Amino acid sequence: MLVTSALPYANGPIHLGHLVEYIQTDIWVRFQRMRGREALYICADDTHGTAIMMRANREGVSETELIERMRGEHLRDFQGFGVEFDHYGSTHAEENRELCADVWKRLREKGLVVEREVTQLFDPVTQVFLADRFVKGKCPKCGTPDQYGDNCEKCGAAYAATDLIEPKSVYSGAAPEVRSAPHYFIRIEDMRPFLESWTQGGEHLQPEIANYLKGHFLAEPLRDWDVSRPAPYFGFEIPDAPGHFFYVWFDAPLGYFASTWQWCKKNGASLDDYIRSSDTEIYHFIGKDITYFHTLFWPAMLEASGLTTPTRVQVHGFLTVNGEKMSKSRGTFVKAETYLKHLDPAYLRYYYASKLTDKVDDIDLNLEEFQAKVNSDLVGKVVNLASRTARLTPRLSASYPEDEGLFAAGVQAGAGIAEAYAKCDYARAMRLIMALADRANEYVDRKEPWKLKKQPEREAELRDVCTVVLNLYRQIAIYLGPVLPGLAKQSAELLGGPLDAWSLAESPITDVPLAPFSHLMQRVDPKKVEQMILDSREPESETQAAAAPEVASEQPSREPFAPEITIDDLGKIDLRVARVVRAEHVPEAKKLLKLTVDLGGPDTRTIFAGIKAAYEPEKLEGRLIVVVANLAPRKMKFGLSEGMVLCAGEGEKDLYVLSPDSGAKPGQRLR
Ligand code: MSP
Ligand code: ZN
Repeated sequence: MLVTSALPYANGPIHLGHLVEYIQTDIWVRFQRMRGREALYICADDTHGTAIMMRANREGVSETELIERMRGEHLRDFQGFGVEFDHYGSTHAEENRELCADVWKRLREKGLVVEREVTQLFDPVTQVFLADRFVKGKCPKCGTPDQYGDNCEKCGAAYAATDLIEPKSVYSGAAPEVRSAPHYFIRIEDMRPFLESWTQGGEHLQPEIANYLKGHFLAEPLRDWDVSRPAPYFGFEIPDAPGHFFYVWFDAPLGYFASTWQWCKKNGASLDDYIRSSDTEIYHFIGKDITYFHTLFWPAMLEASGLTTPTRVQVHGFLTVNGEKMSKSRGTFVKAETYLKHLDPAYLRYYYASKLTDKVDDIDLNLEEFQAKVNSDLVGKVVNLASRTARLTPRLSASYPEDEGLFAAGVQAGAGIAEAYAKCDYARAMRLIMALADRANEYVDRKEPWKLKKQPEREAELRDVCTVVLNLYRQIAIYLGPVLPGLAKQSAELLGGPLDAWSLAESPITDVPLAPFSHLMQRVDPKKVEQMILDSREPESETQAAAAPEVASEQPSREPFAPEITIDDLGKIDLRVARVVRAEHVPEAKKLLKLTVDLGGPDTRTIFAGIKAAYEPEKLEGRLIVVVANLAPRKMKFGLSEGMVLCAGEGEKDLYVLSPDSGAKPGQRLR
């Protein structure tokens, strides 16, 4: 298996959002190895493009100096979190230049390259052509403001930067000029038959990704992909087109292979065994924002140039912190480096594992829940098994005692846990493992080994109880190994034998001496969490710098159920699907947003909803929601409210608007 995580941009530090991906991949690779698979974990820095050029310029250093420094910082951060690559390269490498040239030649031979004049945006202040991500403006399709020049976060439309409405350069804020230059394009549409079968075949992609591609990109002719940029550009010059450079997204994915090649050179292996062989399975882990590069362009490029196409592209959602986008002003844009100054990386690895599923949903780092979960699961349930027994006996019993079938049940659970890991449903794996820990703790509670310790005549019994508990602990530490390799290692020292293969969980160990017990894991210190947030705060914008810290958000609590009702009572409430046509702030209102909703009829309705603190209005526009359609209209200070929006949660911030699955239509009644 050749396994990759997306190559982080060399122009910024690693933060907790990135780590969702690198931890997810690292866990998967470790799992595969524990199961006996041969897996290479490859990554690199993504170094090319205008952004690096601009930054190097600003800092008065060369691009290569800058990217070397960043690579060092990135590697340090990954190591800090136990993310272990077999090789971490750079897209700015000779191996990559060669691969790009090679693939380019093949694409040319296939007649897939066309040349066309392109009018691009040019920043008149900094004198560079503006890459798509460095122009912002209104989406040409849906009008959402503040969108990048390549695609719209809101409606998913892909477009050219020159199509943006009211564009601005992110470097200078100047209105860009339109300039024209020749560009090279790849005719992706020619690859349609392959792409349709590759994306829709059900093997390579999660169903929601396959559907998204079908509905968004494959529904129309695929646009030619612009893969060149005129000078000045930091990247590789196109061999047969002097003055033109490969666009960063052309050479970046090939960086996966260039980095693999460097590993091969170091280890006496052949690159062809990885990229031109049906014996190798290629797995890419990526975030949802870069889906279309990895699921359309990249497989098309590989197929067209005769290279191995990916076995799977696994897409994860984005990280929010305390329910909101990471924010510098709130201190929730936490760099990997800052986290490591305050907290144990094992906490985050476990927390992410407990949240990650095989779905593309965003995941939330709720700092209260983070502390509660780590303390109750890892410290309270898992480590506690060892700390309550390892000190009570110097040695395990000579044969494995009667244990009420607990160890055997743990062996049986192993298959389901492995299956969950394999399909990236780590949340399920963690639940199954914690269920084992619960049963083991019940056993300890019942046997009360600390009482046996006080009765010397019951020493044999005590040793048997400890033998059972430590074997159950050992099994759990093995199952948690992909997530917590450090804990597995420490436990291996305690128990005097390796815990690095899945099959080791199938049989108990006996008759071994225990090493002196040393602390395995501390509880989370809430002061350190707070300090980490304070350390991460930067005034992002003029206004929010002085805001009170918002570290603590309410723990989710459950409200008591309301009194019973009959089916007739229920029928009185007319719940309908509605589409939010417009969402606006009401200047004087502290809590309200004004929503204009479409209920499928000729007229829209106005609803004032108390969700201002929980949602940016733009986030709601276009969304399907559920409203109570037959609530008597209510006259409010700001106008008439003609319905109510269904939300989960309570208070002002901890609110979640309900949406039906896609496919539902405005006006449909809920039943
Ligand atoms: N350089 C490109 C990838 C090229 S791959 C041939 C890139 N770099 S990135 O630094 O912006 O992101 C690297 C990975 O981290 C991406 O998969 C991205 O989705 C992921 N994440 C970046 N921010 C994230 C969150 N806030 N949450 C979850 N994942 C995030 O894209
Ligand atoms: Zn849009």
